[in-house]
Amino acid sequence: MLGRTFTVTAAVLAVVLGVPSASQAVPAPGSAGVGDVYYPEYGNGGYDVAHYDIRLRYHPDTDRLTGTTTILASATQDLSRFNLDFALATESVRVNNRTATFARQSDHELVVTPARTIAKGAPLTIVVEYDDIPSNVVAAGFTSWNRTPDGALAVNEPEIAWWWYPSNDHPTDKATFDVSVLVPDGVEAISNGTPTRWATPAFDGWSRWSWRQDKPQATYLTFLAIGDFDTYQDTSADGSPIVTAYNTRLDETTAAAAKSSVERSDEITDWLAGLFGPYPFGARGGVVTGAGDQGFALETQTRPVYDGRSFSRGSNNSLIVHELAHQWFGDSVSVGQWKDIWLNEGFASYAQWLWSEDQGEGTAEEIADYVYGTLYPADDPFWQVLPGDPGPGDLFDGAVYDRGALTLHHLRKLVGDEDFSAILRAWTDSRRYDAGTTPEFQALAERISGVDLDAFLQTWLYTPGRPDLGVSTLAVP
Ligand code: ARG
Ligand code: ZN
Repeated sequence: MLGRTFTVTAAVLAVVLGVPSASQAVPAPGSAGVGDVYYPEYGNGGYDVAHYDIRLRYHPDTDRLTGTTTILASATQDLSRFNLDFALATESVRVNNRTATFARQSDHELVVTPARTIAKGAPLTIVVEYDDIPSNVVAAGFTSWNRTPDGALAVNEPEIAWWWYPSNDHPTDKATFDVSVLVPDGVEAISNGTPTRWATPAFDGWSRWSWRQDKPQATYLTFLAIGDFDTYQDTSADGSPIVTAYNTRLDETTAAAAKSSVERSDEITDWLAGLFGPYPFGARGGVVTGAGDQGFALETQTRPVYDGRSFSRGSNNSLIVHELAHQWFGDSVSVGQWKDIWLNEGFASYAQWLWSEDQGEGTAEEIADYVYGTLYPADDPFWQVLPGDPGPGDLFDGAVYDRGALTLHHLRKLVGDEDFSAILRAWTDSRRYDAGTTPEFQALAERISGVDLDAFLQTWLYTPGRPDLGVSTLAVP
């Protein structure tokens, strides 16, 4: 679903008023991308997805994934054909009950030509059948589908969806999801949201796991963790389901350390809600993979996925805070362009500093001083990466996180605690389930604080070198 409201166009008015339209639009192909400056071919034009129904069968022994994904969408233009972001071997595509033709445009892009053109505003039901070994599939030069000793992980950013379901793969087109997976008995299949079938016998030797996400969700934040997990179910004070899962390959001490942190997710979510406003989703939890299985954590919506190795030296509550802060910054309010990634990582990192202060450990000010003055000396290459424009190859550079968090800390000092808090809450409130860009964030922060932030943000986000605190934090009246 696109976050914007539709405007009544002249053409629509002409139809309503019975006036012949001046220019009858000729159906045209939907564009191959949504206009992301870093990834021009990610996402697709011409339609808006409302819901994905993903039904899969997966066998860990062979990594064979067979699936049918049904996409409910609507055309945003008169459409002659459109693209899907998808990399697996496709068997058939149907559009609005008729067999459609399809062809590969690239290793991650499918062109679908419906039997009939689709009128702007008309519903679009797309059914895609597929069968492949995802770990064999290289797309855009790599594979993100991660086969593990006991299953597989579909967890990555930004590229993961096209290894397991066809989509309009950009955070600006969110949708609700049903994910339903058949796996051999005894294997767990975990995803986002609320479990609607839990290890439900389907036929001899196979069980079904079904998950529902009823709040808008970006494609890359939709995950699948299949394997041998110890799982726990609980209910939050607000009545929403909590599901936590730990891979059984974790050694006992690591599993205990992971549990001591992940089992605090419900409490930490409530603490974050106190800072940022109401928790935007209806389910909670976390999933811990085998140590080293994926090498990073990801803020998959409602239920982040952590690498077991993150707990190899003990509890890591700060990481839980980071991934759960993303539920507001990244998941509910997503990046409008991948270039805006600091809006995700800077906020999630700053939340860790606030947590540290709350816990009576270092204050945000102490951490900011340390990061600025000691961790990264002025001549450190760290200061050459621009958080506001890191480049597609450096989306997750340390500067996006730490300089992003410093930017927020100094913004806070510039506008004062009260306005800073009002800015965070207004951002999460006004763009809930939507997306935003850095210029939009600047406009909101300026409106609330009354401070011109041009020079400040230019220095902190877009200028190489360590900002001079005395100059860069000066308010320009
Ligand atoms: N957004 C993730 C985080 O919270 C980082 C993902 C990094 N992705 C990757 N493929 N290494 O930090
Ligand atoms: Zn992050």
